[in-house]
Amino acid sequence: MSDAPTLLIADDDPGLRESLERTLTREGYHVVLASDGRSALERLQAGGVDLVLTDLKMPGLTGIEVLHAVKAIVPDVDVILLTAFGTVEEAVRAMKDGAYDFVTKPFQRAQLLRLIRQALERRELIQQNRALQRRLEDLLQQGAIIGGSPAFRRMMTLIEQVADSSATVLIQGESGTGKELVAQTIHQRSARRNGPFVAVNCAALPETLLESELFGYEKGAFTGAAGRKEGRFELADGGTLFLDEVSDLSTITQPKILRVLQEGEFERLGGTRTLRVDVRVVTATNQDLAQMVREKRFREDLYYRLNVITITVPPLRERREDIRVLAQHFLRVYAAKNNRKLEGLTDEAIQRLEGYAWPGNVRELENVIERGVVLAQGSLMDVTDLPEEVAGATPLPEGVLSVRIGTPLAEVEQRLLEETLRVTKGNKTLTAKLLGIDPRTVSRKLERQEETVEGVPDQPASA
Ligand SMILES: Nc1ncnc2c1ncn2[C@@H]1O[C@H](COP(=O)(O)OP(=O)(O)OP(=O)(O)O)[C@@H](O)[C@H]1O
Ligand SMILES: [Mg+2]
Repeated sequence: MSDAPTLLIADDDPGLRESLERTLTREGYHVVLASDGRSALERLQAGGVDLVLTDLKMPGLTGIEVLHAVKAIVPDVDVILLTAFGTVEEAVRAMKDGAYDFVTKPFQRAQLLRLIRQALERRELIQQNRALQRRLEDLLQQGAIIGGSPAFRRMMTLIEQVADSSATVLIQGESGTGKELVAQTIHQRSARRNGPFVAVNCAALPETLLESELFGYEKGAFTGAAGRKEGRFELADGGTLFLDEVSDLSTITQPKILRVLQEGEFERLGGTRTLRVDVRVVTATNQDLAQMVREKRFREDLYYRLNVITITVPPLRERREDIRVLAQHFLRVYAAKNNRKLEGLTDEAIQRLEGYAWPGNVRELENVIERGVVLAQGSLMDVTDLPEEVAGATPLPEGVLSVRIGTPLAEVEQRLLEETLRVTKGNKTLTAKLLGIDPRTVSRKLERQEETVEGVPDQPASA
């Protein structure tokens, strides 16, 4: 940031805008003004903004909506909220959504300047840090997809099978199960791996902004469109476009996406030239899209286009075998990041982790381990380093298999066989006796299992 940092100020009060502009310009900042949230975001999309200051209460988009959109478009750019008396509570809540801080009107000049300076310094540090972090992550293989359970291995097999085709893939799964990671893995294992991987969160932006983000716009397409902007479809040319939370696409945007998928072409907003791109589209949702189609909230034709292949990421509680390897993986990553010498987890801690239901899935597990790494005193992470709800989890009774209603029988059989083998420590004769089948049947079923996971590394699978 050798040039003057650019501050974008969104406030519907002209007097306040002017006085802020005067003060901040005098301090050497480059100030850009917007009188409402929408034009602020349009300016933001054009690039070059280092920090956003936004009013909370504005006509049209609120400050909170601006915050969410900023975090979706340019996650590194910090947002400081300008709050009037009486909206402080809302501002405090917004901190949880990623706001840097808030200041209450009328401002204390010194306080505001200090905040701005701190936010900009932080941004610079983050940017410097990122290069280092990336090297460390490569080293630790963060971003690798980890797991060894049968359900996980089946999913990996499917990923391998579909990666090289250009078919659209719909990834379904509960929140935090790893849908985005699956999308990245598909890209990395495809022939497009050297092309770009571009992600768009369809839930984070209001409709028209999402469209200009996806398709780009021509100069003068709307007030504020000072130049031409390439959309994400163009940026993803030759690579993969990941549409996250695709169930949030509005009924206006849905047909436009359908057209790109069908014809491979589109126009920039305000443009007449038809552009063609070679993009593989991968989408994800934690909603039941088929149900939404039945309720006419999602276009059926688009659904079939997106759903050429479905990959369902199973919830963590249905693949408890993965908990141990994931916990160890995250422990290694976060110990290195925090410069802690931690060698692993106690058996008791692992038991609690395995007994917990993980409503937030892998993301929750990752957070629990990160927190534990900071708290742990000894060389092993123990039960006392786990949050209460996890530490208090009743360990799964040994010898019990929990199966979701509707699980295919073949899968139930397979899991029962594997669990029994695990408990008998791999004794096939004993396993056959317990299950009342012939030992040769056990061997045959195991062979068949080996065949279906061919091409997937032995557990713990790691990319
Ligand atoms: N199998 C896995 N191996 C290693 N890390 C994983 C795995 N699955 C998920 N993670 C990690 O867990 C976190 C959550 O994953 P991700 O963001 O992909 O989930 P998601 O399904 O997209 O969640 P949401 O529905 O909330 O968007 C990420 O940090 C991701 O790297
Ligand atoms: Mg996600």
